[in-house]
Parts: sequence; structure tokens; C-alpha cells
Amino acid sequence: MISVKTPCAPDLNTDKKPCDFVIFGVLGDLSQRNLLPSLYQLEKAGLLHPETKIIGAARHELSQEAFLEEALGKLKVFVREELSSEITERLLARMRYVLINLDVPEEYRRLAAMADPQERVLVSYFSVSPTLFGPICKGLQHAGLVTPNTRVVLEKPIGRNLASSIEINDLVASVFYERQVYRIDHYLGKETVMNLLALRFANSIFTTNWDHNTIDHVQITVAEEVGVGSRWGYFDQAGQLRDMVQNHLMQILTLVAMEPPVNLHDDSLRNEKLKVLKALRPITAKNIEKRVVRGQYGPGFIKGSAVPGYLEAKGGNPGSTTETFVAIRVDIDNWRWAGVPFYLRTGKAMACKRSEVVINYKPLPHNIFSGSYRSLPANKLIIRLQPDEGVEIEMLNKVPGLSDGISLQRTMLDLSFSEAFSKERIAGAYERLILEVMQGNQALFIHRDEVESSWLWIDSIQDAWAKTNELPKPYPAGSWGPVASVALLARDEREWEE
Ligand code: BG6
Repeated sequence: MISVKTPCAPDLNTDKKPCDFVIFGVLGDLSQRNLLPSLYQLEKAGLLHPETKIIGAARHELSQEAFLEEALGKLKVFVREELSSEITERLLARMRYVLINLDVPEEYRRLAAMADPQERVLVSYFSVSPTLFGPICKGLQHAGLVTPNTRVVLEKPIGRNLASSIEINDLVASVFYERQVYRIDHYLGKETVMNLLALRFANSIFTTNWDHNTIDHVQITVAEEVGVGSRWGYFDQAGQLRDMVQNHLMQILTLVAMEPPVNLHDDSLRNEKLKVLKALRPITAKNIEKRVVRGQYGPGFIKGSAVPGYLEAKGGNPGSTTETFVAIRVDIDNWRWAGVPFYLRTGKAMACKRSEVVINYKPLPHNIFSGSYRSLPANKLIIRLQPDEGVEIEMLNKVPGLSDGISLQRTMLDLSFSEAFSKERIAGAYERLILEVMQGNQALFIHRDEVESSWLWIDSIQDAWAKTNELPKPYPAGSWGPVASVALLARDEREWEE
């Protein structure tokens, strides 16, 4: 059967309308840990339209009362502050439950009885396995819930390679215009990731010092202290390259490397990011050995506690060759970045949770302070994404004093967000993104072209691993990854920021 999309272009001016916010998979982990607590914070901040409703959909038989009880229980666990009874009451009063077997189109009529996408915005959040994205789109269409006011939010992973992501995107596109599709990467909702835009494009000292003339290389680290834990089943099929690099690290990379967008509108930003993805030099079986390090954690200690290795996880496959760590030398083949490598690394069960971007400037051509340093250390700009969000500049200063000559010392200019903006609580990524969808702003969501370009490049690495039978190198839990990761930079006479 050929399905026909809604005949008119989506309504771009609906931000003032109340919203029916539907969470498919409302009883799942993501919804309970992130979505419901974020809605609580939005309620608290007075950012939800007074008539906005939250509709939870799942395949379990559950009364409205039992649903509210369940939601309250999870809010108590996952909102990291004492719940206000007034705000909780207001939030729960917006909530409804609907039982839908997501692959049965007829059952979406129950949802149609609760939502009104002619008059109100309908946001459908797909917090379910991507295999259900197609059935949900068809179900919404079947129930007459696809109008210009309808928006869909897709959680990652969108596929496991280029071919499967095209398949999923095609299914969604058979029902929705791209303008209605909001692909989430929660890193884009993080305050510090968004601050990369402010830092780069609102400060002339950085806009004029942001290319191959002044920058030697860039490091992007997203280290996690947690191991894989109960997510083994999902993770073992994915691995760190697909789970973290394809999305989060690629997004950080594009924000650091892109050209200035004309403005902050949806397409301006997304087009600039896309150009960076298209300029990534492919990795091949010939160069992978020098460009990429794959690791897998073994037993070790994190903050003094013993941690079992990846292969020892309960219910896991002791023969798994899935990587839990990746380090990559990325080259961007364009005018701005010619000759400036970007080194990415990310891993589970590492020494501590730390995400940061380090811009390493070029050393000066001549040293007039040889009494202090035989060669002057170059400046560094360190952007701490999480935790302890902030920006540091490592620079050289004269040590105050009357001694002969000028003696230099390395010092830090340190801007800590929690101190500088002490009145503001830092909003969680999902709060920002939920609000943006409700308001119809796509700038912080990923365009289909971005997802597919990113997969194309990631596939080149997966293919090269398959061709070379590259196995992950072991590293002890609680370390900074395999020794080969140090060698990756040492080969270029550089070292990781520690
Ligand atoms: C998710 C990955 O997208 O991001 C997880 O699937 C990872 O494996 C998580 O742990 C990290 O997010 P954050 O916000 O804790 O850095």
C-alpha cells in the first residue's frame, strides 16, 4: 500500500499552542530517568503551557491511578531534589495513560480520543527500540494523528550502520516531513555543549584564533566512570564506536570545527555541521592501525573499589570482542583544518567521569625566556563539558618579584560555571530539548543528512576493523584506556591532556 503524507507543509508557527506530549515507552528506563524528571523541572520553572497534557503510552494493562503512582515513585527516585507537593500535583494532573500495542494500528484510536492535533501541537516521543519507529508512524497515521501540528522525536540509536539508518529514516519519511522530525542527541541539550557556540562566535579572541594558523591540534575526551552494567545486551551489539562516537563525539567535533553559521536558525547550524562531517577523511584498512585504537576493559579498581571486567558481566558473553574504548585521530580535509588533527577518545569504566575539549595552540616561533623554559609551553584552552563545567586557559605569567630577569610560570585562568553563575541551576539536557520540540525549534536536533554522513564515516572504521580482524586491546577498569592510546599521540609527538 502506498501511504500518503499529510498534504500540507507543517505549521511552523505553533509555539504558543498547548501541547499533547506523548511518550511511547513511558514505563521504560529513559522515560523514568530523564523525561519525567525533566517535565517536573519544566513544570517547576513554569515553562509548560497551562493546557499542555502528558500522555504516557505503553503496552501494559495499567489503570490511570496505578500509572500516576508509578510516575510519582519514579519522580521521587530520579528528581535529584526534594519534590514540592504543589509542583508534583500540577504535573500529575496533566498526565494520562493509554495502553497501546505499538504494532497494532487500530489501537492508536485510543490515543486519538485523547489528543487533538488539529488545534494543539502533538509531540510523539519515541522512547522505544528503533524497530518500533515505523509501526508508530503508521499507527499515528492510521488514527488520523498526522497533521501539520504533529512532531516526532526519535531517540538514538537510529540504526547500526548507514544502511539500517536509511531504512529507519525512510520509514519515518514515508509519513512525516523532515521539518516534523526531531532526532535527539542529548549532548546538544547540555549547557556546556551549547556554550561552545557562545565561546566561538561571541568572543573575538577565539573567532580569530580558530584554525590551522594558530591551533596545533584538538583533543576531545568523553570518559565515563560507569561500566556497561545492566545494559550489556544492548551495548554488546553496539560497542563504544556506535554508542558514543557516531553521535555525541561527532556532534561535539562538528560544533568545534564548523564554520560560523549565518545565524542560529535550524538549517544554518545544521548545514555547517554537515559540511564538517562531509570533510572527514575516511579511515581504511590501510591506515586504521595508525589512526584508531580499540579497547575493552578488564577487571580493575575505580576509586578504590574492585570492578569486574567487561567479559565477566552477569549474563554476558565471555568471548565478546565488542569495544568499550575508542581513540581516533580524525583529519578534516578542508581549508580551516588542514594539518590539524583532532584526537577523540571515549571509554567506559575509566579513571573518572570527565568530558572536555582541549584546544592546543601552536608554540611560538622564538623564545626570549630561555632562562625559564628551554622551549615555551604552548597555550591551551580547556573547555570542561562535565562535570565541574567551565573554561580554563593555560598561559604563562611572570612570577612577581625583584629577582633578575623575568621568570615565568604556567598559570590557569579558570572560569567555573557554578561559581560565575551561582544563582542558576544548570538545566538538564532533556529539559532544554523537550522545550525546544514543544516550541518547534529544530536547531538542536540532528538532520537526517547528518545522521547518514556520520554513519558513512563510522562504517568506514567498522569495515576496516572487519577486514583487519582487529581485536580490542585490554585496559584495566579505572585507567585511561589501553597503552596504545598513548602511542597514538606519541607517534605524532603529542600527549593526552591528563
Ligand atoms: C548515552 C549512551 O547516549 O550516553 C550511554 O548510550 C552513555 O552509554 C551516555 O553512558 C552518557 O551520557 P552522559 O550524559 O552521562 O554523558
